Amino acid sequence: MILPVYLYGQPVLRQEAKAISQDFPDLKKLESDMYETMYNADGVGLAAPQVGLSIQMLVLDADVLKDDFPECKGFKRTMINPVFLERSAETVAMEEGCLSLPGIHEKVARPTKIRIKYMDADWIEHEEDVNGFAARVVQHECEHLTGHVFIDNISAIRRQLNKGKLNNILKGTARCSYRTKAVK
Ligand code: NI
Repeated sequence: MILPVYLYGQPVLRQEAKAISQDFPDLKKLESDMYETMYNADGVGLAAPQVGLSIQMLVLDADVLKDDFPECKGFKRTMINPVFLERSAETVAMEEGCLSLPGIHEKVARPTKIRIKYMDADWIEHEEDVNGFAARVVQHECEHLTGHVFIDNISAIRRQLNKGKLNNILKGTARCSYRTKAVK
């Protein structure tokens, strides 16, 4: 089932998401709905707050980016209660977008390598090193679980330059090819 994507301005995107336990109701159904919603919107990642749920869960599939970023080949993951174990001091700035901020693309500096621990939807624990653009996708999605969005990382000037677009998102008039839930 395709779920509406909550847009910038929705309070759930600003909440600190809660860790969940294995008995979270209909976890597998939620996982499959999140993948369906992400693919339908041509996204490579989707965090639970983006479908209105303030829980620590995200799905991502960056395989579509493999021609530009070989590290993304087959990189499809469901991450529940993710915890960063390491983040490299080395960072790189690259352009990002977000399904909750349609039409906005900005460069964000992030660590190039991470080590992360998480549960999958079968409740198996994983500990994994992730590099390059795949690490970027993971960090972008995990940021949603802390009540932040990627434009929180850009300069005041860059945010000012995007003000018109942000206002359109807030007003519910941003153009979008997928189902959304704006504030108004
Ligand atoms: Ni996002």
